Amino acid sequence: MSSTTNEAPIAPIPLSRKPPGEPSGEPSGTGGAGAPGAGKTACIRTFGCQMNVHDSDRMRRMIQDAGYAEVQRYEEADLVILNTCYVRENAVDRVRGHLGELSRLRREGRVKKVALTGCIGAAEESRSLQKTYNIDLVLGTHNTYELAEFVGLPTMRETYTPELPGTEGEHSAFVTIMTGCNYQCSYCIVPTVRGRMTCRPLESVVGEIEDLVAGGTRYVTLLGQTVDAWRHEGRRFCDLLEAVSEVAPRVWFTTSHPSNMEDRTLRAIGERETIVKRLHLPVQSGSDRMLRLMHRGYKADRYRRKISVFREAAPEGTLSTDIIVGHPGETEEDHEQTLRLVEDCEFDSAYIFKFSPRRGTEAADLPGVVPDAVVQRRFLEVLRGVEQNALRRNQRKVGKTEEIFVRHGATADGKAIGETWSGHAVHVDTDAAPGTYVRAAVQSAGPHVLYAQTVD
Ligand code: 5AD
Ligand code: SF4
Repeated sequence: MSSTTNEAPIAPIPLSRKPPGEPSGEPSGTGGAGAPGAGKTACIRTFGCQMNVHDSDRMRRMIQDAGYAEVQRYEEADLVILNTCYVRENAVDRVRGHLGELSRLRREGRVKKVALTGCIGAAEESRSLQKTYNIDLVLGTHNTYELAEFVGLPTMRETYTPELPGTEGEHSAFVTIMTGCNYQCSYCIVPTVRGRMTCRPLESVVGEIEDLVAGGTRYVTLLGQTVDAWRHEGRRFCDLLEAVSEVAPRVWFTTSHPSNMEDRTLRAIGERETIVKRLHLPVQSGSDRMLRLMHRGYKADRYRRKISVFREAAPEGTLSTDIIVGHPGETEEDHEQTLRLVEDCEFDSAYIFKFSPRRGTEAADLPGVVPDAVVQRRFLEVLRGVEQNALRRNQRKVGKTEEIFVRHGATADGKAIGETWSGHAVHVDTDAAPGTYVRAAVQSAGPHVLYAQTVD
């Protein structure tokens, strides 16, 4: 299924609904000829995780309501919005590159205004970026709604971001169930830029999903930094997931924290027909010493136990994880233990990250910095372990006939991208519309994807 990379978003979406930056469908806003942005154009670029993709959907609705037409190229845009990620330094480097290009386009009079939003916007560093690149508007993750005023709409007073639905009437939709994170992992900037956990009431989540399903949504992804930590008025994540599985025809959730993952949730994945049997459970390291240093709150064996519950509940299901290599203090023995855990858990895919120091996090000041060459070798060793397992597991699917949800319609080569109920990504020869199902026989398998042919 998904690729193994050191460039992945916070919560990986190998099969995102639309590539970031593409419009999310017909304008749904109220913007008409008299709207403040009528005749103007805007371009939104999204970096990072699904939370950002979802936040971009919200901003897209604001600019549409204001009457802006969405364009895909900076050169054609009056307003450019960069919705950014701060989780690793390479994410910031990429944004700097885009800001440099935008400065040039502005000097040439092609782009008029630039807005920087998302996690960099919420970080201290945004001030110096604003000065250097002369950015017109900087918004963090908690005041995205101020974009409304900037594009000429009435001031919005939004106190609770997840209440504002992002996507409507599409076959797939993200639904935010919580924002922020109450953990303090040594290496992670997310709690600083996204704040503490806020959970959205169950009725509000289920109500939004009922509306989405009535409008044609066939696949719902529940979103949050630690969705399994969701709790509200005595109810826990498994209650919410079960309630959603009653109203959504297909549901998945990401991302989770091993300390919050309950056996009941893992069993529900296996038992409930509408839940995709795919679990993303970031482990970060296989060494108890590193897990303690990272403040993860669990030991490797507890993680293994969770995985065995999942494998028993959904033997055909897929499991993915996040792993950091080269966190300060990581020894060869720690690394060996990560390799052992990779062997034991037989991940179907993993997002492997080289440690990136983030200013303001504990790990940025820890001793025991691992040399780049060592990090690179460890990265490749973990990658090799993951890919060997992934290929072996994917090959077990060859010869099977599967019901496949079409996520992206066929491209020029006649291949659509779909997903099995086990959560495997599949290339399939069909012109069926996105949001529908086809039956197909798996012909072959690589480490990241299955190849299938439709059957009658
Ligand atoms: N360096 C490298 N990887 C990181 N992640 C988060 N912060 C860092 C960092 N400073 C990874 C973790 C997390 C994923 C989304 O990004 O593995 O689960
Ligand atoms: Fe970051 Fe840890 Fe929270 Fe995940 S659980 S968002 S890694 S602090």
